[in-house]
Amino acid sequence: MRLLLLVSLIVFSLFADEKSDRYERGKTLYFQKGCSNCHGSRAEGTGNYPSLANRAKGFMTYKLNTFRKGVAETPMQEMMIGFAASLSDADIDAITTFLSDYVDEQTEKYDPAYETWGDGGS
Ligand code: HEC
Repeated sequence: MRLLLLVSLIVFSLFADEKSDRYERGKTLYFQKGCSNCHGSRAEGTGNYPSLANRAKGFMTYKLNTFRKGVAETPMQEMMIGFAASLSDADIDAITTFLSDYVDEQTEKYDPAYETWGDGGS
């Protein structure tokens, strides 16, 4: 019984690792491929460019596959065709994992205890 628990814990942590690898790879690609220039460095969207943070993975996968095939539904979307063209299936999987599970590290790491205003640096 205990062995079973141990084995399932190991299997679970392997899956968790595999997922965080994809998240990290997706993050790298997101910046490397220039997605952040339009969709924002926090995937929050800029101007006419849609926010992608925490959107549904299935929807984004569908959109990227469509763009990659050279299909756009609006003139605005035509902009995406060139950016999606160089993505492999694994790239799309990694990027959509990163975007759908997006965690804003700036917010998460914020800790008021680090505020040093007014303590005179002592
Ligand atoms: C030059 C600016 C630009 C760059 C760079 C860019 N995009 Fe886009 N993206 C757009 C525009 C414009 C749309 C379409 C918005 C609309 O439908 O009005 C779009 C749409 C999308 C959508 C569909 C979102 C929706 O709400 O329909 C996804 C997903 C997406 N982009 C992902 C990416 C990824 C991943 C990259 C990097 C490989 C990237 N984009 C690079 C401009 C850009």
